[in-house]
Amino acid sequence: MAARLSTTPDPETAFAAVIEATGTQPRIAVTLGSGLGDALAAWPVIGRWSWSSFMRSDAGDVPGHRREFALVNCGTVPILLVSGRLHSYQGVSIAAVTEYVRLLHHARITTLILTNAAGGLNPDYGVGDLMVLGDHINLPGLIGHNPLRGGPNFLDCTHVYTPHLRARAHIAAASAGIVLREGVYAMVGGPSYETPAEQRFLRAIGADAVGMSTAPEALVARCCGMDVLAFSSITNIVGAESLSHTDVVHQGAQSAKRLAAILERLIPEIDEEKERNSGGA
Ligand code: HPA
Repeated sequence: MAARLSTTPDPETAFAAVIEATGTQPRIAVTLGSGLGDALAAWPVIGRWSWSSFMRSDAGDVPGHRREFALVNCGTVPILLVSGRLHSYQGVSIAAVTEYVRLLHHARITTLILTNAAGGLNPDYGVGDLMVLGDHINLPGLIGHNPLRGGPNFLDCTHVYTPHLRARAHIAAASAGIVLREGVYAMVGGPSYETPAEQRFLRAIGADAVGMSTAPEALVARCCGMDVLAFSSITNIVGAESLSHTDVVHQGAQSAKRLAAILERLIPEIDEEKERNSGGA
C-alpha cells in the first residue's frame, strides 16, 4: 500500500506559523508558576492559543495553572506567556515536561524567564519573598530523570541561569523598591511535600528553596542556546506549618504583583539589549 503523505505541519512549525501570522516576533517568553498568572493579566493580549493545539503531551488540570500560550505586550515589548506547564508529578515524562521549551525555540524565542512557587529553606527567607535562581540542584536529574537523556550529552552547567540577566534582575528589583534574594533552588519530584528529614537534607546540601519544576526546562532552554532567568516566589517556609496546594496558589498570587513590577522593568531592558546586539535587525 502506498504511504499517505500528511499535509498537516508538525506542532513546532504550526506554532511558529501562528506567531508569524500575528506580524510580531517575540524574543522573550515567560513561564508562569502557581498562582502567578493573574498579576500579568493586565498586559494587553495580541493572541491566545490553547495548550492542546500545539502540544503532544497534556495532563489533567492543576489548580492555579491555566493551559495556554499568550502573545502579550509588556510595555511595548511583545512576549510569549506560557501557562499550564506540565510537571512530572502529573505522571508525564520529563520529555513531555520540557516539550514546550523546544516549541519556543522553534518560534525563535531566545530568552526564557521561568517562574515558580517554592518553599523557603533558608532561615533568612520569609513568606512572600522573591528569589532569583543563582543555581539549582536537580535531584530527579541527578538520578537520571534528565531531559537531555538520549542526547545531546554533557551540557556545561556552570551558568545555567545567565549571570548578566541575574544582575539586571537585581537592578530592576532595586529600582522598584523590591527585595530580591538570590539562592539555590532544589527541584524535587513531588507531588508530596517534604518530610522533616527531607527538609533537613535539602538545607544541608545547600538549597535555599525547594519546588517541583524549573530545572528541566532551564536545561533544555540552555541546550537550545537560550538565555535563562528564573524566579521563585516563596509561598511557605518549609517545616513552619502544615501546607496545602491551595495555600501555595494563594500566596503565589500575593507575590505576583511584585514579580510583575520587576518584569515590567526588566523585559524592556533585555529586549533593548537584544536589539542592540542584533544591530537593530
Ligand atoms: N515544597 C515543594 N514544592 C513547593 C513547596 C514546598 O514546600 N512550596 C511550593 N512548592
